[in-house]
Amino acid sequence: MTLISKLYDWVESRLGISEVIQKEMTGYLLPRTINKWYSLGSVLLFAFALQVISGILLLIYYVPDADKAFKSVSVIMNEIPFGWLIRLCHAVGSNLMVATLFLHMFSVLFMGSYKKPRELQWVSGFTLLNLVMGISLTGYLLPWSQLSFWATTVATNSVGAVPVIGEYLVEFVRGGKLVGPPTLGRFFAVHVAILPVVIAGLIGAHLFFLKRTGISAPPTRNNQAATTWQGGAYHYDKHEGGIPFFPNFFLHDMTSISIYFACLLGVVFFSPYLFFTPDSFVPANAFQTPAHIKPEWYFLANYQILKIFPSEIIGLTVQGAGMTFIALLPFVDRGDKRYPLQRPLFMVCAVGGIALFIALSIWGHLS
Ligand code: HEM
Repeated sequence: MTLISKLYDWVESRLGISEVIQKEMTGYLLPRTINKWYSLGSVLLFAFALQVISGILLLIYYVPDADKAFKSVSVIMNEIPFGWLIRLCHAVGSNLMVATLFLHMFSVLFMGSYKKPRELQWVSGFTLLNLVMGISLTGYLLPWSQLSFWATTVATNSVGAVPVIGEYLVEFVRGGKLVGPPTLGRFFAVHVAILPVVIAGLIGAHLFFLKRTGISAPPTRNNQAATTWQGGAYHYDKHEGGIPFFPNFFLHDMTSISIYFACLLGVVFFSPYLFFTPDSFVPANAFQTPAHIKPEWYFLANYQILKIFPSEIIGLTVQGAGMTFIALLPFVDRGDKRYPLQRPLFMVCAVGGIALFIALSIWGHLS
């Protein structure tokens, strides 16, 4: 008996690991018709882990001080061995993670898997999308470049449109009347301590909900059911006769994760500054406003909405209403049908909504 099998037996007799593997891996059955879109959740788990690991490595050399932050990032990029690789994986990774979040959201949207009994999964997922965008926004300030400084000035300005408390809110977020060293301290704390923990906890809740409802079967023309649940007592979707998660679907997950990682490294090696603008290479200067300051691509639609309306408060209200509608979608769209082509009203709203988001983003980019 080898040492490894002895060790396994020792652990097995104490923890019953083989039972857990049978229950959670080989005996965890998924619908036979499951498709590749279902692997986007695992891609997101990988993307988040990569952000955490690269972020911790960056923390070793990054200095959260307004006088030293920009220089410390230059040192990471130019002097620390492989510092450029870690920093670019983190910066490019944040953009690709948001893009993957949109894809995951669209896939559950079109397959109707947000419908009962998976409302909590949708609400927790949508909250995660917003928190990931928030962690990206706070991270944007940390290099303390012209882009960081002025993009944060624009973003925090819009908070001022909130009636009555707007002015206090801006001061609270910035730690002063203007963006300055206290803002960096606040954003740093939120970026590295608060949001990662909250996001990790919420991912745990998202996966817990998934484990409790069981995964949905993809809809077809003849099979609409999100579940065999008819309401009433708790029920788990077993998918008897389905395929095991391990090894069958695990291999699909690994393929999708490899494609994600290849895309990430492709950008890092062949177009490292795809998500950077010239202002990200100039240190922050409070006395020199750059000509064209734009937020990241995924905030361009919000930015354009604020510009379209004559007053910011109307723009904020429109956005708030839109976000609330999306967050509560499973409680509004309660029809039984899940196959997209049999939901014409949904298709018009969803395709129209996505087209509007893209059009506003392009407009925001060009204007
Ligand atoms: C960090 C962010 C997220 C992670 C790590 C994550 C992870 C996962 C995983 C592993 C699954 C199971 C496999 C799959 O269907 O892909 C899943 C399912 C699901 N997710 Fe997410 N997700 C995230 C964000 C979101 C967002 C933004 C939404 C929607 C607004 C969402 C809604 C759902 C729904 C409704 C399901 C159930 C799918 C089904 O049973 O068919 N998730 N998620």
